[in-house]
Order: sequence, then structure tokens, then C-alpha cells
Amino acid sequence: MALKTCEHYSLLPHNTFHMDVDAKRFIEYETEEDLQQLIPQLDSSEPILHIGAGSNLLFLDNFPGTILHSAIRGIEQVGEDEDTVLLRAGAGVVWDDFVAYAVRQGLGGAENLSLIPGEVGASAVQNIGAYGVEVKDIIEQVEAIDLHTGEKRTFTNADCQYAYRQSIFKGQLRGQYAITHVTYRLSRHPRLNLEYGDLRSLFDEKVKQQVNAEDSEMVYCVREAVNDIRRKKLPDPQELGNAGSFFKNPIISQEQFHSLQAHFPDMPHYDLPDGNVKVPAGWLIEQCGWKGQSVGRAAVHKHQALVLVNLGGATPQEIVRLSRLICQSVKERFGIDIHPEVNFI
Ligand code: EPU
Repeated sequence: MALKTCEHYSLLPHNTFHMDVDAKRFIEYETEEDLQQLIPQLDSSEPILHIGAGSNLLFLDNFPGTILHSAIRGIEQVGEDEDTVLLRAGAGVVWDDFVAYAVRQGLGGAENLSLIPGEVGASAVQNIGAYGVEVKDIIEQVEAIDLHTGEKRTFTNADCQYAYRQSIFKGQLRGQYAITHVTYRLSRHPRLNLEYGDLRSLFDEKVKQQVNAEDSEMVYCVREAVNDIRRKKLPDPQELGNAGSFFKNPIISQEQFHSLQAHFPDMPHYDLPDGNVKVPAGWLIEQCGWKGQSVGRAAVHKHQALVLVNLGGATPQEIVRLSRLICQSVKERFGIDIHPEVNFI
């Protein structure tokens, strides 16, 4: 079996928040068959956690059981028609390597999701999203293995019950399946989504820099523009520990929104198809004066208040304390509950 098993293993390189905690056991596997053979040997009296790149986790303490990690790699074309191409990627492929691969082929659909930290498996759990696109828009199917029985199951896009940063793998089936492969449907004739903020103007600049920009190079220009925006606003986890957006953007009723708007006319908002209104948590947090503030070694990022950062050596408790104080302030000032997007372990 191609397995790597380590006891009392440091999770420092496996969580982008840089929490210095250990796992009792850490097992990395390279194939579906290895995982299936491993499952009966797992100690069912101990907790089991499957992780990706650890880019959306906050470990609160040492982990007293087994951490599983997929090293299933590879990207292959598994289908095509006149307009689209199906690419199947291993759960352990770095997400941005997948985006770069699709963009190199001139295929559209993933480019707005450039540079999001994490791996392919987690993309399908988390329904990652940015700049007007969610990964559910391009997921065709998800292959997974039941961590209790070892049975393989294929989920269609509808089976995954996707919603904003939500899926069946985070809800009803939490902890039950390990994703092994995800198949994405990408477009040969990309329809670019440039609605977000200053994406269009940055894109236009990138296009100008290309000699003879062909259609297939347009997705490359979007990727470059997205990369620029992210580098400007979001901290690089290699340099400053963080897990991206720490909170989800809250969704409130029209009524609550209108009464708040009377007091805060500048409040940014997005009307949702179901009549509710999504409000950016980053704005709420900044209005409460938290941007750039710190509690011990935990801080609110100076360019994006939705992101909490580890200034170096922060404890999980410092991050939790800061997040609780932020939630309280937002509740007191706006009467809105905000909830972490990051999973506390
Ligand atoms: N804003 C502020 N102050 C801040 C941050 C934001 O006033 O400190 C305002 C902005 O001016 C803007 C609005 O809030 O009017 C929205 O901000 P932004 O476009 O930066 O996006 P976001 O809602 O804060 C979401 C995602 C991000 C994604 C961006 C872009 C969530 C939880 N976060 O952030 O995703 O990159 O949109 O699409 O939905 C992530 O999930 O880790 C992540 C970074």
C-alpha cells in the first residue's frame, strides 16, 4: 500500500492558520484502493478527520485521533462535446494547479476561482466561491468513499445540495465520506464573468498587455486580474497565517435590511433571488472599528476585515477570543449574528 503513516505528527504544515498542534496519527494515501484497505484498520473508538490543505480549519487543540489526507493526484480529460470538456481531478490536486491547468487549455469556468488556497477535494465540500462564481457552477460529479463501509459512491451535482459555502458533505453527511475525485465541466467558449468590482477594468488592462489576445487567452487574462485583486486584498498564508474569510456573509430579511438601511445608508448589500439580502461581514466588522486591531497575536487583517490572521505564534484561544469579540460588536451595533465560515476542530 502507498501509505504514509506518522504518529504524534505536527500539524503545523497542514493548517494555513499555522496552529502549532499535533495529531495522534496522520495517514496519507495515494489511491482509492489504499483508502479502502485502510478503512477496516481505523480505530473506531477514536475521532477521524479528513483534511485537505487545512486552509479552512482552526485546530483548537491537539487532535486525539487519526487525520486522513488524500494524495490522489492527476488531472485527466474524461469527456467532451462541442461546447464543453470534462476534467477529472484527484482530491489531492492543489486547487490552483487545477485552475492553472484549465486556463492553459483555454477552458473557461474556473478562472474566477484562481489562487484560492486548498485542494480539489475540499473545493467540492466547501463550495468555494469568489468574484461572482461558485465551484458548484462547474462541478459535474463527485466521487467519494464511505469512511465506515469503504463503499464507493458517485454524487451528481444535485446530490451535493450546494448552497452558499454549503454542501451535503458539510451538512447531513459531515465526516461520512472522503472525496477521491471531482469532475468539472469546463467551457470551450468561455463566457467571462467580469461583474465583480474592478475585475473588468483590470481585465481590460491585462488584455492590452497581450499581443494578439485570442479567445483562449481571455481566461488567462481573467486569471491574472483575479490574482492581482487577491494579492492586494488577501494575506498570503505562506507569510501570514490565515484561513481566508473567517466569517460567512450574513443573510438577513428585506425588513431587517430596510430598517438598518435607514440608519446606515451606505451599507453594501446583494439582493438574493429568494428575497433575502446578503450583507458583507467585512463591512460590518470594519464599521465596528476592528480592521487592523489585534488580541494578543491574533489580528483582523488590515486590508480585509473578514480575514483573521495569526501575527506569529497566536494560540487558537486568541483567535477564538478575537472572533467572539467581533461577533458581539456586530450583534450590538447592527443586531446581526455573524457565524464563522472556518471549521473549528
Ligand atoms: N468591505 C469593507 N471592509 C472590509 C472588507 C469588505 O467595507 O474590510 C466591503 C467592500 O468594500 C465591499 C464588500 O464589503 O463592498 C464586499 O467585500 P469583498 O468584495 O472583499 O468580498 P467579501 O464579501 O468580503 C467574499 C468571499 C471571499 C471572496 C470575495 C470576492 C465570503 C465569506 N467571502 O468576501 O471569499 O474572495 O467575496 O468574491 O463569501 C473566502 O471564502 O475565503 C474568501 C476570501
